[in-house]
Amino acid sequence: MDEISLIRQAFSARQNAYAPYSGFTVGAALLCVDGTIYTGANIENAAYSPSLCAERVAFAKAINAGKRSFTSIAVVGGKAELGEGQIDLFYPCGVCRQWMAEFCQEDFTIIVASSEDKFGVYSLKELLPYCFSPKNLL
Ligand code: THU
Repeated sequence: MDEISLIRQAFSARQNAYAPYSGFTVGAALLCVDGTIYTGANIENAAYSPSLCAERVAFAKAINAGKRSFTSIAVVGGKAELGEGQIDLFYPCGVCRQWMAEFCQEDFTIIVASSEDKFGVYSLKELLPYCFSPKNLL
């Protein structure tokens, strides 16, 4: 699975975002070690704080399907009226990075994209150094 295919799936997932309050729609595509892919889009709530980011929706779907080993995630998003190539890339929020730290190794790959051919590739360690993780509780 190459970066471009994962980015394409993230853009597709973004179409199902429910973001009436921020108007910022996000899609994510999470690749498991076994090759399966789980997608997610953000789901907002009138009470605001119960809102879910696209990344955590993708992780929740995968984890509840029994998946525990992950390779990479592609994340795309921006104002709903802006499409591929018009949006800027952005980096996952801190809460989502902490979710990743629960289930992923330091070399887990995070792909942030504004289009299929404009993207950045980072490791979880780069985006969340010195994190608190399950290892701390051993
Ligand atoms: N959002 C995500 O889905 N992922 C992130 O990493 C950052 C923010 C969503 C949450 C909210 O619905 C909207 O983007 C604006 O913050």
